[in-house]
Amino acid sequence: MDRLRIQGGVPLKGVVPISGAKNAALPIMAACLLTDAPLRLENVPHLTDIRALLRLLETLGVTSTMDGPAHRLTLSAHALQQVLAPYDLVRKMRASILVLGPLVARHGKAKVSLPGGCAIGVRPVDLHLRGLEMLGASLSLEDGYICAEAPKGLVGGTVTFPVTTVTGTENLLMAATLARGTTTIVNAALEPEVRDLATCLNAMGARITGLGTPTLTIEGVSALSGAKHTIIPDRIEAGTYALAAMATRGALTLKAHALGTLLPSELPMLIQMGAQITQEEESITVSAPETLSACDITTEPFPGYPTDLQAQGMAVLSLAQGSSIIRETIWENRFMHIAEFVRMGADISVHGLTAVVRGVPCLQGAPVMATDLRASFGLIIAGLAAQGETMLHRLYHLDRGYEATEKKLSACGACVERVRAS
Ligand code: EPU
Repeated sequence: MDRLRIQGGVPLKGVVPISGAKNAALPIMAACLLTDAPLRLENVPHLTDIRALLRLLETLGVTSTMDGPAHRLTLSAHALQQVLAPYDLVRKMRASILVLGPLVARHGKAKVSLPGGCAIGVRPVDLHLRGLEMLGASLSLEDGYICAEAPKGLVGGTVTFPVTTVTGTENLLMAATLARGTTTIVNAALEPEVRDLATCLNAMGARITGLGTPTLTIEGVSALSGAKHTIIPDRIEAGTYALAAMATRGALTLKAHALGTLLPSELPMLIQMGAQITQEEESITVSAPETLSACDITTEPFPGYPTDLQAQGMAVLSLAQGSSIIRETIWENRFMHIAEFVRMGADISVHGLTAVVRGVPCLQGAPVMATDLRASFGLIIAGLAAQGETMLHRLYHLDRGYEATEKKLSACGACVERVRAS
């Protein structure tokens, strides 16, 4: 397994090109199943999660052409061969559940392996399933597979989510585009990635209104066409590099094609810690203060502070002056990185879903192990700010969701090197 060697202590300075958003690209790729015309996507990031979904789509019969250097991907589901999403592919990436809604909507049936839990929590999909039932699908569980059927097609209805679910909203949104009649999704997730999916679906001929609000209304249509769509920039990657600039007391310029979606929910936290933020036409620059101020964070659905930046925020706050309280309200097991931060000299204690971070003047490099995707970059941030060498093990987590990490970091002065598995 690859590892990352980091020599800490260098303030990061330079420009970071922000890649396309993984969590927008995944549902939008699944949307290709809703039409037999080609879906042309731009700004698709090179990530193992993207490759995993592509493999699943290809197993279903989708054909694809990828222009790697240009980040272009064309998908065509004109000759679907099967509606079975096998366990071996789904278990590698939970977002595979996103094929369920489109398959039932267009083909009247689907058999998708029930995703298991993962390192950050149990991650049930009951709300996806209940929503599809509200649209008339009949569901059963057979040998670990969700079997869904709607031979006469789905029928519009009202789906009220008791808690906001990002991929749940996306699955239902896709399913409802081809349902007969009107569907209303109440308490829909507000994440920009959901909006990007809705924008792409509308470009394919769907009739969705209420974009960016908690109530989405979908007037079903009989067929969707192909479309060309550019994936929004990855706000979590942008936030991650902003936090890396803070921890190393550097200054990074984040460059992207649509700035509006960058940093919206982490700005208050960055400002409270003392960041200076300047915006230009196509970039935002985050400069660290000499001394970082402590601040409290509660992870929440958008527009609250994202759970996907909790580990990275914790790395920075472990170096702030004073104590900070971090509450994780989305995932029940997303504090596994704390033990690794403590090995680097951080002073953090956990009380249930609350962590108390008492800032220390410096961290020390150490061998550490990534426990999930976002924790990996949290540990990289800690390593970049620490004195001495950090060796990050289990790098495959990082490659699921961050593109060209070593290249982007090295361009900003970091001493990082991937040590390939022999
Ligand atoms: N939930 C249920 N039942 C469901 C669905 C969700 O109880 O049927 C609960 C979950 O257990 C959790 C909460 O609802 O407590 C929110 O889960 P949500 O469904 O919103 O999460 P998700 O759609 O599975 C997406 C991102 C995650 C991100 C979360 C929260 C994608 C592909 N994944 O997951 O991203 O943490 O929303 O913002 O969009 C990551 O990129 O590292 C990552 C984990």
